Amino acid sequence: MDKEVLEPMFENLFRTKPFTPNGNGNGEHHLHACLNALELTLLGMGAIIGAGIFVLTGVAAATKAGPGIMISYVMSGLAALFAALSYAELSASIGGCGSAYNYSYTGFGEIIAWIIGWDLILEYMIGISAVAIGWSGYVSDALRSSNITIPASILKSPYEGGIMNLIAAAIILFIAFVLSIGVKHSSRFNAVIVLIKLSVICAFIFIAAHHVQPHHWHPFLPFGWNGVMQGAALVFFAYIGFDSVSTAAEEAKNPQRDLPIGILASLAICTTLYLVVSALLVGIVSYKSLNVSSPVANALLQIGEPLAAGFIAVGAIAGLTSVMLVMYYGLSRVFLAISRDGLLPAFFARLHPRTKTPVSIIFLCGIVMALIAGFVPIKEAAELVNIGTLAAFALVCGGVIIIRFKHPDLHRPFKLPFFPLVPALGVFFCVYLMLQLPLHTWLRFGIWMAVGFVIYFMYGKRNSVLENKSD
Ligand code: ALA
Repeated sequence: MDKEVLEPMFENLFRTKPFTPNGNGNGEHHLHACLNALELTLLGMGAIIGAGIFVLTGVAAATKAGPGIMISYVMSGLAALFAALSYAELSASIGGCGSAYNYSYTGFGEIIAWIIGWDLILEYMIGISAVAIGWSGYVSDALRSSNITIPASILKSPYEGGIMNLIAAAIILFIAFVLSIGVKHSSRFNAVIVLIKLSVICAFIFIAAHHVQPHHWHPFLPFGWNGVMQGAALVFFAYIGFDSVSTAAEEAKNPQRDLPIGILASLAICTTLYLVVSALLVGIVSYKSLNVSSPVANALLQIGEPLAAGFIAVGAIAGLTSVMLVMYYGLSRVFLAISRDGLLPAFFARLHPRTKTPVSIIFLCGIVMALIAGFVPIKEAAELVNIGTLAAFALVCGGVIIIRFKHPDLHRPFKLPFFPLVPALGVFFCVYLMLQLPLHTWLRFGIWMAVGFVIYFMYGKRNSVLENKSD
């Protein structure tokens, strides 16, 4: 390519949007502010507790960390904590329903914002598809215990001997319907499900505490320190979701106070539960027996508690449902924010006049995710989620440092402590966990980012609202 083509292509890559207070939508596309601190915390817990604790804890303990899985949870919890503090600061001071995408647009410039937005789309879309596949596995296990067998042809992808995972595809479309009805309905639905999953987790803790046999904790690190860190990179999935609270900035009644509360409270409660559940899980049965599709329920069966196992399965199904619901909610908001800025077609930003929800994005994404969940194996889908999310979190932590220096006078209702140590540690932990993921995950992530760059240079850069303003 010659100079005349290349130069305009790389011009204005770092143009920024002006800072806007929380709730920056314009009238026509503005969402309805109705969520309080408690509802935001429940929203966070709805997104956080899911396939990570109910499925991946077992896989990670059996194949990577052994009883040291508790340390894996501490390590990935630290990465999540530093990122959450950074999210809390930025969501309170900048806001916008595009979450990290929006912060980086004002702090870093358009190209970085696009990279983060594209990462968030990966996190939410593939994450929802992966959780839906896990959901179908739990449902099939639960039905099997009542002697109902779902045929493998509609439960597995073509790569695993089935035709299509119709069950996973169907739950995604059902959730698309719930979301399209309107946020208030969905947030009530979410609150009920969160209470159900909290009760089953508490029930597990109560029952398991009476069955601990300390010899199961020896040897504590059968796969060494490397295993613990690889386990941490895997169970990081369990913490993903607190960030979707920040995508509710426009629906929050008092975002400057309530977003930090929602983000940090939901993460603190979930971290505590994870440490206790993972320690108990590897304390009641041998870690070697946990590489199954429903490890928590399975462990209870092993210790002779079939009733509790059934109860846990129902709670896990509820838990996975609410994870999909909240991530889906986050996904639609990120699309909304990106298309408002012109980086994706305006069609995505259109709200339904009555429900005030972005119905077109909800159903379009629903169809794509139903296809992914129907035809892709869970492992392939899940591997990609962590790397994309960690990359976005690292950029958010770095963003806090840069924005503090570039905009020292910005009003910050919440300031993270020990600046710049906390965000710097956030960058370090996220990158370190990324490095623990396998090479093929890096390659797929590279392809995803390459597609993102093509879309940006072919469409987004030319149609950006900022491009048109500078004309
Ligand atoms: N944290 C969510 C889960 O574990 C994504 O399912």
